[in-house]
Amino acid sequence: MSSGNPSFEDPKALAWLLRWYAEAGVDVALDPEPHDRFADRAMPRKPVDIPKPQGPEAPKAQAATVPLSSEAAAQSAAEAAASARTLDELRARLDAFEGCALKATATQLVFADGNPRAKIMFVGEAPGADEDRQGLPFVGRAGQLLDKMLASIGLDRRHVYIANVVPWRPPGNRTPTPIETAACLPFMRRQIELVSPKVLVCLGAAASQTLLGIRDGIMRIRGRWFEYHSAEAKIPTLAMLHPAYLLRQPSHKKFAWQDLRELAKIIEKVGAREN
Ligand code: URA
Repeated sequence: MSSGNPSFEDPKALAWLLRWYAEAGVDVALDPEPHDRFADRAMPRKPVDIPKPQGPEAPKAQAATVPLSSEAAAQSAAEAAASARTLDELRARLDAFEGCALKATATQLVFADGNPRAKIMFVGEAPGADEDRQGLPFVGRAGQLLDKMLASIGLDRRHVYIANVVPWRPPGNRTPTPIETAACLPFMRRQIELVSPKVLVCLGAAASQTLLGIRDGIMRIRGRWFEYHSAEAKIPTLAMLHPAYLLRQPSHKKFAWQDLRELAKIIEKVGAREN
């Protein structure tokens, strides 16, 4: 590009500009006109109407509209998550939560998909562009592969509940930072408590490391069973390769197949197929 702004009448310049945006992570146009969402968020907003918790443990209403410090975010997340008595309440509290910066750049909250009464819960990393648009986890290419993986052991989304450790899309699909995952963790932990699965599956390193506190890479831990400690139970938890990784490394699908057979065995053993 020689100088100044590219001309919109020059198809080559336009293609260059689009490629430049895509490489910077700007891969979707949300509005016909440019829209400064950061400016929106700086303006006073109407309070969000969330179900009021009851009893002496009820947290104070959350009125914050500016970024919280990480300690304040952790405190606010812990209080909001603990006070949710149902998944609907948890979703509403997460939607009103201002302690994770990813919310500012995402289109919407991506809470969960599948069956909330399922006994098998899958946890991925974070929504991608398709999930961000549709508001549902694992609906893009990785999600289509996940559906095939489920089908290979006789499951579909009616048998499982699916969520992500981070419910907002990181810009450009980057890995969420430890601060972002930590901010959302109390909600994830409460989500697991409320679903109360008999078997948990961590898809990829981010979910495994966040939920199991493991630092090892996914190739070392995949196919191994761990225990996830929720407030009420110790849940057998399998670490598996993430379907997005399998799309990039199809030769590693053989490992996923081995892990799915392990999963199928424990599902039968603990009777987790029936909801
Ligand atoms: N990858 C994830 O980890 N989660 C999704 O929802 C989609 C892709």
